[in-house]
Amino acid sequence: MITDGYVYIFDTTLRDGEQSPGCSMTLEEKLRLARRLEDLGVDVIEAGFPAASRGEIASVKQIAAVVEKSQVAGLCRTREQDILAAWEGVKAAARPRLHVFIATSELHMKYKLKLTREQVLEEIRRGVGLCRSFCDSVEFSAEDATRSDIGFLKEAFACAIDAGATVLNIPDTVGYTMPSEYTTIVGEISQVVGDKEVIISTHCHNDLGLAVANSLAAIATGARQVECCVNGIGERAGNASLEEIVMAIKVRKDLFGCNTGIKTQEIAAVSRIVSEITGMPVPATKPIVGRNAFAHEAGIHQHGMLSDPRTYEIMRPADVGVTESKIILGKHSGRYALQDRLITLGYRLSTTQLAAVFERFKVLADKKKNIYDEDLHALVAEDTYNIRSRYELINIEFKGGTETEPWAKATVAYNGQQHTSEATGNGPVNAVIEAIRQATDNDSVTLEDYGLTALTGGADAQARASVKIAEKELVSHGQGTHIDVVMASALAFVNALNHQALQMEILNSRNSKPPPK
Ligand code: KIV
Ligand code: ZN
Repeated sequence: MITDGYVYIFDTTLRDGEQSPGCSMTLEEKLRLARRLEDLGVDVIEAGFPAASRGEIASVKQIAAVVEKSQVAGLCRTREQDILAAWEGVKAAARPRLHVFIATSELHMKYKLKLTREQVLEEIRRGVGLCRSFCDSVEFSAEDATRSDIGFLKEAFACAIDAGATVLNIPDTVGYTMPSEYTTIVGEISQVVGDKEVIISTHCHNDLGLAVANSLAAIATGARQVECCVNGIGERAGNASLEEIVMAIKVRKDLFGCNTGIKTQEIAAVSRIVSEITGMPVPATKPIVGRNAFAHEAGIHQHGMLSDPRTYEIMRPADVGVTESKIILGKHSGRYALQDRLITLGYRLSTTQLAAVFERFKVLADKKKNIYDEDLHALVAEDTYNIRSRYELINIEFKGGTETEPWAKATVAYNGQQHTSEATGNGPVNAVIEAIRQATDNDSVTLEDYGLTALTGGADAQARASVKIAEKELVSHGQGTHIDVVMASALAFVNALNHQALQMEILNSRNSKPPPK
C-alpha cells in the first residue's frame, strides 16, 4: 500500500458537488472551475458521470481537453455501456482516470441492484478489468462501503485489486460511520492491500457532520487519497470539504506528517467561484472560507490578536488567500489600481472582462465613497450571475411607507420580449419578488429561503441577497448584490430563476437523450 507523506486531493465538486440540489453548472462554468481547480493544485478532477447523457459526455470531454496537469476522472457503474461512455469522456485527457463503482452493502445489493454477492464480485472482476483494458489509472469504489459486511467488503476489494484497480475508494455514501469505525475499516482494507502499489481513498458524506473528521481518521490510518468538494457541497448534507481537510493536514502537520499539493493561498478565490457559480452562499461560520472565519469580535480576543495573532488564530488569513485591504479604492482610482487589486485578490481577467468590471466600478464609486475588497468580489461576480441569462432584469420600481401598501413594478426580458407586471406585498422585497414572478410567468415557484448580508460596514455598504426557490422537487439558489437591498433581492430572485431554467434544461436533456450503447 502506498503510504508516503503525500495525500492526493481528488476533487469531485464537478460531479458529486453538482449533484447537490440546485447546484447544476453550465459547460462554461464547469470549464472555468476545472481550470481553477487545476491551478489550485488538485491532483484529480472528477469531471462528471458521462453515462448520464450525451451532454454529460460532451462536457467531460471538453474538461478533459483543457486540463493538463491534474488527472481527469470519469465516473461509471460496472456495466459496459457506462464504462464505454466514461472512457469516451476522458480518453483525450493528458492524464485520464476511470472511476468505476458498485454497491457492496446487503441493502443496496438486495433492494437496488437485485444481485447476489457472487454476481457483484463478478461485476467487479469484469468492470474493473474492462476499465483497465482502456486506462492505466483505475479507481474502484465500493458504494455504501461503511454499511457493508466487512468480510465481503474485503473480498470485493481483493477482487478489484486482482482485476487491476490502482486506487481503492471506501465511500461512506450515506454519512453513517464514526471516525473510530472508519479507522477500523481502513485498517482492514490495508491488510487486503498489503505491499501492493495501491492507494486507499476516502469519500465521506456529511449527514452526521463527520465527513471531514472521518476523512482525517482515514488519513491517520494510511489512506492517501481524499475525495472532497469545495465548500463541502454535495448530495444531501454535502461531501467532505476540500478546504477543511487541506488546512487540517497543513495546520496539524505535527500530527499527520503529511502534505498536499494544494496552493492554499488560492482557496478563498476558488471557494468564492463555487459559491457564485452554484448560487449557494457560504455560511458565515463555515471553517476556513466563511466570512467570520477570521473575524474577532470579543474585546478579549481582539486584545490578544493585537499582541500576537497566534493567540487566537491557528493559521494566518493570508495562508488561505484572505487578504486584508491596505488600499481602499474610490472614484479617483484608475484602471491600473483596480487591476492590481484584482490580481492580489486572485482574479485573472481578460482585457474585455477588466474593462467591464472597470465600468461597473466607476458606477459604484459614484454612489459609494470607499470600495472595499468585498465590493470588488461582488463586481466581478456580476458576470457570473449574468451567465444564465434566460431572464434579464430590465427595471424595477417600488413604493411603500408606513401608511401605504408596498407596491412594485418589474420588467424582465425573456424569449426576445420584455414583460412587465405590478404587484403588492407585505413589504417592498415581497412586492418586487411577486412582480417578477408574475412577469416571468413562474406562478408555481415558491420562495423557500431568503437572507441578506451587508458586504462591508457603513451606511453605504452593498447588500448581498441570497434566495432559495423551489418548484415541486426542483430547488435552485440565487444571489444578487447591490447598494439597494430591494434591488439586490430582485437580482437574487432572477438569478435563482435562471439557475432553475438551466436545471430544467439539463434534466430534459438527460431524460430525452439516452447515452450511446
Ligand atoms: O457517495 C458515493 O458512494 C459516491 C460513489 C459513486 C463514489 O459518490
Ligand atoms: Zn458521494
